[in-house]
Amino acid sequence: MMGVSIKLSVTKKQKRFIDATESEVLFGGAAGGGKSYGQMVDALLFAMKYPGSKQLVLRRTFAELDKSLIRTSLSLFPRELYTLNSSTHTGRFKNGSIIDFGYCMTENDVYQYQSAEYDVIRFDELTHFTEGQYVYLISRVRGANSFPKQIKSSTNPGGVGHGWVKKRFIDKRERGKSFIGEDGMKRIFIPSLLDDNKFLREGDPDYKKRLLALPEREKKALLYGDWDIFEGQYFSEFSRDKHVISPFEIPTGWRKYRTVDYGLDRLACLWIAAAPDGGFYVYRELCESNLTISEAAKKMLAMTPDSEDIYATLAPPDLWSRSQETGRSKATLFSEYGINFTKTANDREAGWLCLKELLATDTPRLRIFSTCREIISCLPALQIDKLRPSDCATEPHAITHAPDALRGFAIFYARPDNKNDDTPRVRWTQDMWEDYYSAKDEERKYLKRKYGEPI
Ligand SMILES: Nc1ncnc2c1ncn2[C@@H]1O[C@H](COP(=O)(O)OP(=O)(O)O)[C@@H](O)[C@H]1O
Ligand SMILES: [Mg+2]
Repeated sequence: MMGVSIKLSVTKKQKRFIDATESEVLFGGAAGGGKSYGQMVDALLFAMKYPGSKQLVLRRTFAELDKSLIRTSLSLFPRELYTLNSSTHTGRFKNGSIIDFGYCMTENDVYQYQSAEYDVIRFDELTHFTEGQYVYLISRVRGANSFPKQIKSSTNPGGVGHGWVKKRFIDKRERGKSFIGEDGMKRIFIPSLLDDNKFLREGDPDYKKRLLALPEREKKALLYGDWDIFEGQYFSEFSRDKHVISPFEIPTGWRKYRTVDYGLDRLACLWIAAAPDGGFYVYRELCESNLTISEAAKKMLAMTPDSEDIYATLAPPDLWSRSQETGRSKATLFSEYGINFTKTANDREAGWLCLKELLATDTPRLRIFSTCREIISCLPALQIDKLRPSDCATEPHAITHAPDALRGFAIFYARPDNKNDDTPRVRWTQDMWEDYYSAKDEERKYLKRKYGEPI
């Protein structure tokens, strides 16, 4: 642009990233390979070349966005041409081009972009995102103009999305070569190692030594950009092809459950139907943050049609612990709002194993309707806990809620009449009492097993 000259030099790998024309480009490899910097140079060049263009730059959290990409953009983009609105995180160029900076903490954060249109979306640290977030967001790349439409991502190996990113860009493909994915999309993976970034090598010669001192697994991921070493995925058996199906009408006769993980930070409620052949179908989900108990109960009831007879609503034992202030438990409060819980077990490792069993084999017993986005995204994103490899990591916390609810169902199903636990599991409803009074002795025993001792 007139009067403003910008001096930029880029590495060879950054140039390849900038020049790449594939619909989906992944710039990946070691920490310090120049990926984030490459993204911002590319964003600048695109904005200048296509006046009026729109780009979205994403990190998983705002703190990361602010510290890295926003800072880089402010130091890189000429002030004469560019201003950033620090409350909306929108950067505007004099020529009308826009760069939005965004983040996606939870699965639902993607809906902020529901009505948005972008020419280019850039994910930095792509493996911090779930596949569900990526697939939803890339549908926002559209528009009636003639600017190129691309999704350009950068990342190190590792992180919650390691598995799906590797499958989408790296497995069985030649690095640095364009290929057509099964869905017809043109993709490329451009690896960039520390040694490819002369700026960092010269500016901070000790950086490599610091990476060399990392534990083996981190070293392989961050220094060598090695995608094969990172075997962090807990549910490695999960596959969209096998476990996700198109919704169908659940026959009225099938037994139906709800299973819940509740906290103020997030409610996850899954509806599960048991088919006569032993298969289970997660057919509906409600995942929402900041719901009080009454709001959560109301929503769960509103989403359950009157015609649907729920056999039991499962919840973890901690919902029965009494609050110090009120002396009442969350389970009691839920029952006052019309949801009577049945207690499941909270043995995490046993629960995850039960869930693994339901997912295993070529014709798995558990399947999920494609409409249940949060559980589909979060289950494959769960990582193995580094200290207890038979457990899942509890970080990032945002992805644990829906899987925790499903775990409750898995362990309940595996131990439907938990003999070690004869504490009351559920506040009996009118209907249950009626069943009980009209039952014979044998049936009464069965009902007590099923509902727990009456309270
Ligand atoms: N083309 C470049 N010109 C100047 N400095 C660069 C260039 N590319 C990378 N750097 C610097 O190298 C360091 C690492 O780059 P960065 O993009 O943060 O790497 P990565 O995101 O791959 O970890 C940063 O300090 C960055 O400013
Ligand atoms: Mg980076």
